[in-house]
Amino acid sequence: MQVIVYPDADTLADAAARFIAEAVNTGQEGFSLGLAGGSTPIETYDRLSRLDVAWERVEAWMSDERWVPLDDPECNGNQAARELMDHVPARFHRPQFAAWLTAADSAAHYEAVLRSLHPSGRSDLILLGMGEDGHCASLFPGTAALDSPSGRWFVHNYVPQLDAERLTTTYEFLHAAHAVAFLVAGTAKAEALRAVLEPRPDESVLPSTRVMDGESEVTWLIDKAAAAELADTDLVEMG
Ligand code: 6PG
Repeated sequence: MQVIVYPDADTLADAAARFIAEAVNTGQEGFSLGLAGGSTPIETYDRLSRLDVAWERVEAWMSDERWVPLDDPECNGNQAARELMDHVPARFHRPQFAAWLTAADSAAHYEAVLRSLHPSGRSDLILLGMGEDGHCASLFPGTAALDSPSGRWFVHNYVPQLDAERLTTTYEFLHAAHAVAFLVAGTAKAEALRAVLEPRPDESVLPSTRVMDGESEVTWLIDKAAAAELADTDLVEMG
């Protein structure tokens, strides 16, 4: 596990874009890239769309999705398309939404798509953000998807805190990935990041912490504001 701290959100976005480009350009045909939702990756996607990347080898997919129409501004896939995927010649696989479809059926269908894209069972690089409650993807504290049945890679997840259905990658698929990269910026994330990276004995384990329990090489790309509560300076490299 590696933690790299950048001076601010702009330098973080630049570095994250270069990190992703490097991973793709040194990867193989059929490079699997899981894209994160939320606001943090937007600047990274914008910069990434302008770098020299071997996009023709990339199979991009969403590490989680909100249960909203595909053209809804809140839709993560819609955001990823607008900021990146509409501008690059990669293949982009998105969960389907329809009024007659349940979130569970959509997740199962998307899981079948992921299985067809990953005969090895392993994604190459999955991008994640982290919420102020320590959630990642749509793995929220206290929700059912934290304990998905063995063999599942992508499931629906009702999130009571939001009163919303979500679709999310499971720990099983996250743990199998060659690499996972968290993008975390801003003061508001500092306490949650401390609790994830430097948990106290009496604290419950947060969803983002469990991502580090697998085989994946996990890299935290964070800015100085998000790192403000981290005490173990040996933990971090200055980017
Ligand atoms: C979503 C994301 C979610 C996000 C975090 C951080 O659907 O919102 O998948 O996991 O990455 O909530 O969001 P921000 O980057 O907006 O802080």
